[in-house]
Amino acid sequence: MCGIIGILGKDNVTNRLVEGLKRLEYRGYDSAGVATLSEGRIERRRAEGKLDNLVRVLADDPVDGVTGIAHTRWATHGAPTTDNAHPHATEEVALVHNGIIENFKELRDELLARGRAFESETDTEVVAHLISEQIETGVAPRDAVRKTLDRLHGAFALAIMFKSDPDMLIGARLGSPLVVGHGDGESFFGSDALALAPFTQKISYLEEGDMVVITRNATMIYDENDELIARPVALSGASAAANEKGNHAHFMQKEIFEQPIVVAQTLQSYLRPLEEQVALPDMAFDLAGFDRISIVACGTSSYVAMIGKYWIEQFARVPVEVDVASEFRYRDPVLTENQLALFISQSGETADTLAALKHCKRAGVKTAGIINVPTSSMAREVDLLLSTHAGPEIGVASTKAFTCQLAVMAAFATNLARAKGKLSPEEEREIVRHLSEAPEAMNAALGHDEDIAGMAGTIAEARDVLYLGRGIDYPMALEGALKLKEISYIHAEGYASGEMKHGPIALIDDAVPLIVIAPSGPLFEKTVSNMQEAQARGAKVVLISDAEGIGRAGQGTIATIEMPKVHPLIAPLVYAIPVQLLAYHVAVAKGTDVDQPRNLAKSVTVE
Ligand code: F6R
Repeated sequence: MCGIIGILGKDNVTNRLVEGLKRLEYRGYDSAGVATLSEGRIERRRAEGKLDNLVRVLADDPVDGVTGIAHTRWATHGAPTTDNAHPHATEEVALVHNGIIENFKELRDELLARGRAFESETDTEVVAHLISEQIETGVAPRDAVRKTLDRLHGAFALAIMFKSDPDMLIGARLGSPLVVGHGDGESFFGSDALALAPFTQKISYLEEGDMVVITRNATMIYDENDELIARPVALSGASAAANEKGNHAHFMQKEIFEQPIVVAQTLQSYLRPLEEQVALPDMAFDLAGFDRISIVACGTSSYVAMIGKYWIEQFARVPVEVDVASEFRYRDPVLTENQLALFISQSGETADTLAALKHCKRAGVKTAGIINVPTSSMAREVDLLLSTHAGPEIGVASTKAFTCQLAVMAAFATNLARAKGKLSPEEEREIVRHLSEAPEAMNAALGHDEDIAGMAGTIAEARDVLYLGRGIDYPMALEGALKLKEISYIHAEGYASGEMKHGPIALIDDAVPLIVIAPSGPLFEKTVSNMQEAQARGAKVVLISDAEGIGRAGQGTIATIEMPKVHPLIAPLVYAIPVQLLAYHVAVAKGTDVDQPRNLAKSVTVE
């Protein structure tokens, strides 16, 4: 979602502000802007749409200045127009904002009643006016910001620039991420360390409720009680080159192809190959003490939760509940002491998942998180962090994070099963062996890239596509449908294959391709019966299976995608690949914006 950059530089900062915004593009946005302090004046340039538009505006009407802030906006309040684009400004201040000011209507009415005029429909502009009002009456900028923050409800990160103080920027963080970068005689704000990587690796991560005053040589951080506090300076390790696509046409393609390597890296942290055992990081509780697990996540991460339910219940015989995070709190779940709440998130910042995590913590429930960004809000909140090592995921559609989450989930389920006394050493050895084989099998699956590209044209012509799977392949069908719809804009749904007869089969005709995910195994025959029921009604089927499955049921399909024969435990890691590649090639055939599909954001920091 929205991206923030702030620079107190030694020389003109405009180009670096735009460079920072480029590195934040992956988060998703629909307008952008910069503001600098130039000869004692706040100068703004903004544009709707992609950053190229802002670059053109800047080329036609350049701004300079050694102090500046910049923003990519993902519209929440008000359309993605130039007027609604950030920075928002008054005579005195300019600011950029990520998140939502929930009480903005009340604040706006109050400000209007006092005669303030607004030029946008955004919630953000009220913050600029509240701070400005104070400054106009002689209140110092720091105090003006503090007083304003005390009036705001919601979740936000802010970076604020003051006409009166060209050597200072103020930032604040509550519910949305913001980091401080420390340079050589320069200071920075950024939504994440990745955005600041070309400028500095020295990063301070702010905590919830922090307000921070930066100058070129100093950083003063105030905690939620307004006490001056020291936050550590860490070396981010984020690569200044991480945002390169290499030889690939899109980040999504690059990330699909990285999967064997990053899954192997992730498994390395959880497998002890010599002992042939699974190992989790040290934890302050005994897994054997839990007799219920809740798994909470959004989108693609929630399908890992569903697959996790199958694994945990099968191996550890512990009952599992799965919730999408946006519903979890609102069903007022029964929370008990003997329950572990497990949260799954690539970004570690998804607002609904973070809110569900905080809800569980308040209720005294122990929490664990399968998270890709180790410095994220969730990673810092959970009692037990189970890191995925997928590296930065830039394409909006999650791919490598998904398979790394699956790898960690398999390790977690195995560990729990051992703790519960449900797994013999021999069974655990076998699981370790199968997991170790996953990267190679994923490589073999990637070998079908060209075949899949070849069949993408047919699917690209469809208006609707259905995905079917049974058992652990049902969440994979949901993932296939989500991947296809989000990047190709083709309507797609995933169904448990046994559900077809209960409604969806009415949709079947020869214009609706049916993608069937069915590795050979105990559930194969049943899935194939459902597939044949659809074929009898004219469905055009693409069957994703192994050689045995294709040999038994491939006839009459329009295409087959042959996966290596793998153990059911690692099948989701392997079958994810054709599902991702199909969505990718269909989107390419349709000519959509694969890495930044319309309306979507990478890190969903509003509820
Ligand atoms: C789909 C996708 C989203 C995310 C969801 C949760 O390709 O990427 O559905 O999975 O927004 O995001 P995280 O995992 O960051 O909490």
